[in-house]
Amino acid sequence: MRRYLRIVVLCLACGFCSLLYAFSQLAAAPEEGAGGGGGKPQAAAASWLAGGGRGGAGGVGSAGPAAHPGRSDRYSLKVQPIQRMHLAVVACGERLEETITMLKSAIIFSIRPLQFHIFAEDQLHDSFKGILDSWSFLQTFNYSLYPITFPSENALEWKKLFKPCASQRLFLPLILKEVDSLLYVDTDILFLRPVDDIWSLLKKFNSTQIAAMAPEHEEPRIGWYNRFARHPYYGKTGVNSGVMLMNMTRMRRKYFKNDMTTVRLRWGDMLMPLLKKYKLNITWGDQDLLNIIFFHNPESLFVFPCQWNYRPDHCIYGSNCQEAEEEGIFILHGNRGVYHDDKQPAFRAIYEALRNCSFKDDNIRSLLKPLELELQKTVHTYCGKIYKIFIKQLTKSIQDRYDRPPKER
Ligand SMILES: *[C@@H]1O[C@H](CO)[C@@H](O)[C@H](O)[C@H]1NC(C)=O
Ligand SMILES: *[C@@H]1O[C@H](CO)[C@@H](O)[C@H](O)[C@H]1NC(C)=O
Ligand SMILES: *[C@@H]1O[C@H](CO)[C@@H](O)[C@H](O)[C@H]1NC(C)=O
Ligand SMILES: *[C@@H]1O[C@H](CO)[C@@H](O)[C@H](O)[C@H]1NC(C)=O
Ligand SMILES: *[C@@H]1O[C@H](CO)[C@@H](O)[C@H](O)[C@H]1NC(C)=O
Repeated sequence: MRRYLRIVVLCLACGFCSLLYAFSQLAAAPEEGAGGGGGKPQAAAASWLAGGGRGGAGGVGSAGPAAHPGRSDRYSLKVQPIQRMHLAVVACGERLEETITMLKSAIIFSIRPLQFHIFAEDQLHDSFKGILDSWSFLQTFNYSLYPITFPSENALEWKKLFKPCASQRLFLPLILKEVDSLLYVDTDILFLRPVDDIWSLLKKFNSTQIAAMAPEHEEPRIGWYNRFARHPYYGKTGVNSGVMLMNMTRMRRKYFKNDMTTVRLRWGDMLMPLLKKYKLNITWGDQDLLNIIFFHNPESLFVFPCQWNYRPDHCIYGSNCQEAEEEGIFILHGNRGVYHDDKQPAFRAIYEALRNCSFKDDNIRSLLKPLELELQKTVHTYCGKIYKIFIKQLTKSIQDRYDRPPKER
């Protein structure tokens, strides 16, 4: 009995200490700022705290320790400077609905506040504004809309040389000068777990790493770069740039090895010569240029596993992403247009479930059952055969975020 009491006292003491620690970190937060996060870190911090206090008044509108029972330990220790997570996307052509669904999936599961940077063709701006403003009651995100732009010196040349939308993202470190770190995603990405989780990989970078991506292929026999590329590429099968985490502070500072000159070049000085040298040999646009850059600077790339960028290639000829088989898919990437045709119905089912859902807790919780029924209809495809990995993490994310006991809400 004594011993039991002692343990209780010890636990209480520990709890008190971690609380004290959390508060001291919170107090320190404003000075440390949002890592150059552009704008007002203090305001972001305040809103984040207030969000926690409000505890889900209307949809997802809560983001803070109080909303996460069972995870509060993790937060009291990890809060530190309250940094917004920056997410960028480039939307052109018919990509409005897809982009909106991607942004929605980011909002639904994420814990810390998000800052969206949306680069879009002018004719899409009004639609983005209309939809995102109608979500502003959530208070868990902010957004900025930008036209497709290039740094002024070479703007014309870039537009002439290359599809403007495809090359836009290479310039993000130069355009978003105030932003320390950024997650770039293609429009056909769906988050099946909080953005916070991929964002936390930034802290795992060693001193030479500046960006993180997943391999283009797990299986060299069906790899594209190793069979067809007419330019250098990273590693055995190249990397896929559909989900790219960047420490842009480091990208702006680094001098890159390259095969154009013997001197090392800055990011901004390297892109144009690189494009000129390789423009006749590249097939997938900016992704090919990134592969060339990291071929020459392999120590700068952090490679994350395939479940952070899960594509049809990982299952159409049989499953080859082992990490996803074990832990489920974290980020789904419906390239090849699979959200919009009938070739890979498992991908499409996930897309439609998220596209159709609203921000209401009940609505999100109840998307799982019909989705599973829908996925069961896809078992005639290779991807459908392993449909359980499509909902494994999604189920967990929904439980973590929305199935909290009533007293917490
Ligand atoms: C969004 O921006 C407004 C005004 O700049 C600010 O008050 C608010 O805290 C920001 N919200 C988030 C989630 O960053
Ligand atoms: C482009 O491809 C051709 C044909 O494979 C090759 O001979 C040439 O060296 C390549 N150019 C560059 C810059 O690598
Ligand atoms: C990015 O790198 C800079 C310079 O090394 C560092 O100060 C900053 O904390 C890094 N950002 C993140 C989010 O880790
Ligand atoms: C960082 O990791 C990369 C990839 O594993 C490696 O090539 C590089 O040497 C590492 N850098 C340092 C300073 O350890
Ligand atoms: C989503 O909504 C569309 C029409 O708005 C409907 O046809 C479709 O069946 C719905 N899909 C799911 C998976 O709920």
